[in-house]
Amino acid sequence: MTGTTGRVALVTGASSGIGAATARLLAARGMRVVVNYLSSAKAAGEVVADIETAGGQAMAVQADVREVAAVESLVERVGAAWGGIDVLVHNALIPYAVKSFQDMTWDELGGKIDAEMHAAFAVTKAVLPAMTEQGWGRIVYLGTGLSRRPRKGMIALGTSKAALEQFARYLAQELAPQGITVNVVAPGPVETRTADDVLDDATRRQQVAATPLGRLAHPADVAQAVAFYAGEDNAFMTGTTAAVNGGLAMY
Ligand SMILES: NC(=O)c1ccc[n+]([C@@H]2O[C@H](COP(=O)([O-])OP(=O)(O)OC[C@H]3O[C@@H](n4cnc5c(N)ncnc54)[C@H](OP(=O)(O)O)[C@@H]3O)[C@@H](O)[C@H]2O)c1
Repeated sequence: MTGTTGRVALVTGASSGIGAATARLLAARGMRVVVNYLSSAKAAGEVVADIETAGGQAMAVQADVREVAAVESLVERVGAAWGGIDVLVHNALIPYAVKSFQDMTWDELGGKIDAEMHAAFAVTKAVLPAMTEQGWGRIVYLGTGLSRRPRKGMIALGTSKAALEQFARYLAQELAPQGITVNVVAPGPVETRTADDVLDDATRRQQVAATPLGRLAHPADVAQAVAFYAGEDNAFMTGTTAAVNGGLAMY
């Protein structure tokens, strides 16, 4: 197989925001895309319809990525229709509390870390057999700049995504001999429904003012970095993190 044409990509949480933009871009590059969602069947159907109208192939599949059985049944369903998954983009947003450490309970912090890692563990375990069998795979996780650079109220998100980033590095080391690359895309604030929930007006203005490129990211900006990591062109980058933040933080 050459290029990305025909590769099967699973994008978790693809009914909205970054996941939807990524699904559209991967499909435009010739991949067959699984548009996973939790409850927004209509929005997921619209992403699929847009892809098909543009000449691509996609299917919407409901599954809660925190549930092992649901993830396994998603992978079986895709396998029956299209064969094994070649590309995993794990993007689904696990909810979290926005508050200070002083006000936070262990259930809130520990619950987010557990759900974040349990979902990443479940989806990765489910896609690996087909990738290892064929000796090729691409895995991309959505991180956040907040795992390196704290922002008020974001301790639960930043801490859980920091764990996810290190998990990705360990997988990158272990899976490289099987032809599988593992990378992280870490956006700054992105114009999505999440940003509407977690950024008040003053924080939004402060974030834009601190960003050399002068705006928040659009989902499509993030999708471009994901698509690079997901494609054949990325033959030699693994265990890395791409910051998509307009220069807000430079590492
Ligand atoms: N937005 C930002 O500023 C920002 C910044 C840095 C990193 N990120 C990261 O980027 C990723 C996407 O964020 P976003 O802002 O694009 O989110 P979003 O627009 O709120 O979309 C979240 C997606 O995740 C799905 N989802 C939620 N829980 C799920 C579950 N248990 N199982 C399967 N799907 C589930 C949702 O499906 P339904 O619609 O069906 O609920 C939806 O498709 C997240 O990992 C987030 O942490 C976002």
